[in-house]
Amino acid sequence: MTDDECITLLQWLLPRLALRWPGFRRVRKQVCKRFQRRLSELGLDGADAYRQYLQRNPDEWPVADYLCRVTISRFNRDRGVFGYLADQVLPELGARAEARGATRLEAWSVGCASGEEPYTLALIWHYEVAGRLPALSLRILGTDIDDVLLQRAQQACYPGSALKALPGEWLADAFEQAGNSYRLKPTITDYVRFGNHDLRKGLPNDHDFDLVLCRNLAFTYFDENLQCRTAATLNRSLRDGGALVLGQHERLPDAVAGFTPWSSAHRVYRKLVDENGPVTAA
Ligand SMILES: C[S@@+](CC[C@H](N)C(=O)[O-])C[C@H]1O[C@@H](n2cnc3c(N)ncnc32)[C@H](O)[C@@H]1O
Repeated sequence: MTDDECITLLQWLLPRLALRWPGFRRVRKQVCKRFQRRLSELGLDGADAYRQYLQRNPDEWPVADYLCRVTISRFNRDRGVFGYLADQVLPELGARAEARGATRLEAWSVGCASGEEPYTLALIWHYEVAGRLPALSLRILGTDIDDVLLQRAQQACYPGSALKALPGEWLADAFEQAGNSYRLKPTITDYVRFGNHDLRKGLPNDHDFDLVLCRNLAFTYFDENLQCRTAATLNRSLRDGGALVLGQHERLPDAVAGFTPWSSAHRVYRKLVDENGPVTAA
């Protein structure tokens, strides 16, 4: 399958999965390789044949959906955002929590891949924030749709290349060498628990989060309708005044209500207090 054939296939297939082509343009090589492998497994000789196969076999759609997942992540991705969370957002959320008599902040990392994002948040909290808010603890829920990634997240063992953006002192203190990899110690992993959850299906069991990170998933790959529904779900998952963090190249669709920018530069939004009941996106 040539690049052009794969692009044509994706432009036809993605909207049928409530996904959007512009999100995939830059990362299509990874996705196209997977479709090429699938074509070989099925003994099909090109994108057109696969398209016809999909039309005849409804069971293939969940497979196509699986093949479209982009799983790239790394520790301290967009480090300026984590700096902003440490300096501004977490202290303010902490002060609010203390004012209402809470002893714990709750965070949710949505689409947490192999744990890089929730563990970065745990590291930031442990080394930069906890000392300033000694009366508070932090608990993080990491969810993803992919069990293989979640298993890796539980193991918390990473190649050095995934850790390049972390300060050397954190590496030395929080990780131990395990063969050619580095394993996070329980002082950090204990902050995080993981679960399988499909963001398209609504809220996980937990809600009333103070902080939700939904980066490089819904607002890159989902189509606009699904983005609006997802924004409403994320709004419901947050407590009033809580923070939503998107990826550096993402923003909420204009039709979404219930949030106000906290930092436009860092793509952080604050949940508005809604006096008229729950917020629903258009
Ligand atoms: C590109 S990675 C982003 C990881 C991390 N948030 C970051 O910014 O580095 C997207 C992750 O979302 C997960 N994902 C894809 N579709 C999902 C869905 N419907 N519900 C939950 N997670 C999903 C993928 O398995 C993948 O781990």
